[in-house]
Amino acid sequence: MNSVHRGVKTGFHRLPLRAGFAKRLDMTSHLPLALCSLDETRDFGRRIAARLGAGDVVFLTGGLGAGKTTLARAIIEALCGVSDAPSPTYTIVQTYETESGTPLWHADLYRIEEEAELEELGLDDAFEDAICLIEWPDRLGEWCPQTRLEIDLSMPGQDDKNQDDNGALKRQVRITGRGDWETRLDDI
Ligand SMILES: Nc1ncnc2c1ncn2[C@@H]1O[C@H](COP(=O)(O)OP(=O)(O)OP(=O)(O)O)[C@@H](O)[C@H]1O
Ligand SMILES: [Mg+2]
Repeated sequence: MNSVHRGVKTGFHRLPLRAGFAKRLDMTSHLPLALCSLDETRDFGRRIAARLGAGDVVFLTGGLGAGKTTLARAIIEALCGVSDAPSPTYTIVQTYETESGTPLWHADLYRIEEEAELEELGLDDAFEDAICLIEWPDRLGEWCPQTRLEIDLSMPGQDDKNQDDNGALKRQVRITGRGDWETRLDDI
């Protein structure tokens, strides 16, 4: 089965034809948040985790060192009870199971060079059945699911306003929900 076929099956690539669908695929952006410490990241991760279930895909974007793995780790801790989850930098995918039995995939696609490698990983099935936390989702190309939660992290400049008492830099967070996420982000 080629990737386009998979996309049709799961609705990944189709553009909405009817007005109702168009509404569902709207994009919802939230006001930016600041995460000023690892504790705040952990709290934010818990709030995101509480909204996740099987078939949800979360894109974690931002430059090198922006805090993508740290946030994924917080979500994994909240859902799977695993602290200090390893970064999938070299393994590409680490899999877990949530306390309610849903598979959770944590992927770092930085080293993916061709879309064929995504097929080998089995990401298409994971997008349907698992909770997927994806770092470097720009590597997905045609495999990009239309319904997804995007969390973009960035480190603003190194001025005093952006540092906490220990000198750690704040992370700025932008959240964008696509598809049914529009109604799932209230009070985040
Ligand atoms: N909110 C935060 N406040 C302070 N430090 C943070 C915060 N989030 C992450 N860090 C620190 O930033 C460093 C880089 O974080 P992390 O490895 O999560 O980045 P990354 O975006 O996954 O990087 P890469 O692109 O290399 O995968 C770590 O030392 C982490 O502890
Ligand atoms: Mg990382």
